Amino acid sequence: MVAFDLETCARPNILKLQPYRCARDDYEDNGINILLDANENAYGPGLDMGSAVVNGHNNDLADLNVSGLNRYPDPHQIELKKLICHLRNSEGSSDLQPENLFVGVGSDEAIDSLIRTFCEPGKSSLLICPPTYGMYKVSACINDVGIVNVPLNPDFTPDVSRINDVLSSNSSIKLVYLCSPGNPTAKTIPQSAIEQILAHPTWNGVLVIDEAYIDFATRNQELTSLPKSNSPWDPPSMAPIVPCHPNLVVMGTLSKAHGLAGLRLGFAFCPAPIARLLNALKAPYNISNPTSQLAIKAMSPSSLELAHKKIKQIVVQRNRLVRELPNIPGIGRIVGGTEANFLLYEILDGVSDQSDCNSGDPRVLKSGSKKAGQPSNSYALAVYEQLAGSKGVVVRFRGKEHGCEGCLRVTVGTEEEVTVFLKEIKDVLADLLGPDKHIQDQVRQDAAQDQRQREESNVIA
Ligand SMILES: Cc1ncc(COP(=O)(O)O)c(C=O)c1O
Repeated sequence: MVAFDLETCARPNILKLQPYRCARDDYEDNGINILLDANENAYGPGLDMGSAVVNGHNNDLADLNVSGLNRYPDPHQIELKKLICHLRNSEGSSDLQPENLFVGVGSDEAIDSLIRTFCEPGKSSLLICPPTYGMYKVSACINDVGIVNVPLNPDFTPDVSRINDVLSSNSSIKLVYLCSPGNPTAKTIPQSAIEQILAHPTWNGVLVIDEAYIDFATRNQELTSLPKSNSPWDPPSMAPIVPCHPNLVVMGTLSKAHGLAGLRLGFAFCPAPIARLLNALKAPYNISNPTSQLAIKAMSPSSLELAHKKIKQIVVQRNRLVRELPNIPGIGRIVGGTEANFLLYEILDGVSDQSDCNSGDPRVLKSGSKKAGQPSNSYALAVYEQLAGSKGVVVRFRGKEHGCEGCLRVTVGTEEEVTVFLKEIKDVLADLLGPDKHIQDQVRQDAAQDQRQREESNVIA
């Protein structure tokens, strides 16, 4: 008989955790499924490996130096950090320096490290603005840190005055996580909103802007007046203002625009004293030597050119989805913005006769006509399940998130993938909303729906 008892030995908050449900748990990457669920880069890595083929299956790694793998990797990554800083610095400036940077195993490591740096288990909390990326909550739970929710406004902008009020009244909040462009909202937060939070007169905490998708957003005066950056595509990133504020952190990743989700390389621009803490807390060799070599290659001018080309292809397909999705009977509005490599759109529980519609919005009817479709979680889940189960097209159900009733999220795919997606979702909706009452009744009567909706909501991506 051993004295060990897992139930009383492990931390109670860890015992309560459910195993992660990730994008690839349910539908594998088998070369047949069309995976539009995890906001990956459908056009492949923005990595110029010279003659080696990267996006096929037989790429040789001649360019990768493996002779030093018997040694531990560089714990400081100065060369890589210089290149990442260069990308976000404006032309001719070098305000961001390697001492402002933390690099981690994806930006997920930065999310967790910030919580461990600033939040005391059982005492502190962090503020999030739902609907938002699920990992902030997961990391908070792992660290036994509370969550304070200040939902986004109905148009998915942050409710800055409410955030500032809550920060005034709750001194346990050490971190605010804002996602820009938001996941799943695809909407970018203007610099003015960020500066209003940073101007809070009494709050002793850190504002974190998660810019995982910023490279798909376009600059305009409303978002930022910052000078042009060295990046070939010049995104409206807030990283350049990090050195002007003692409590602003801006995260980024190579997983999205650079098409390197499999590499696991994320970063956080911080005021130097905060970067020092994060770098002191991390495992010494968190970035492997091959990861570092490939990330450095991803920063070469030819790789950046390749990444830029893929971003432009994604934007073309995004514009196509924005144009074509709302024309499909049973699709409601595209809610949120159009500034990421995904879109959030409503599935309706019915369609009106097309002649009934005003203004192209199938939910707005001329007076006296029959009720048109409303956004419906039951129908959204049914569409999601049919698309994935019978058509091999995997999107993500987001209907349980705040303000996302009836919503699915679709990652922008390649031209061919978007063509298949548009055809299949049209067919699935025609089946569900067609004259066959039997199918509609089935959708409504499926007793296990609610449980499955909740399960789908727990998928992190
Ligand atoms: C908003 C947001 N932040 C961070 C991440 C994680 O990125 P990484 O792959 O760098 O860990 C994701 C991944 O989907 C995301 O959507």
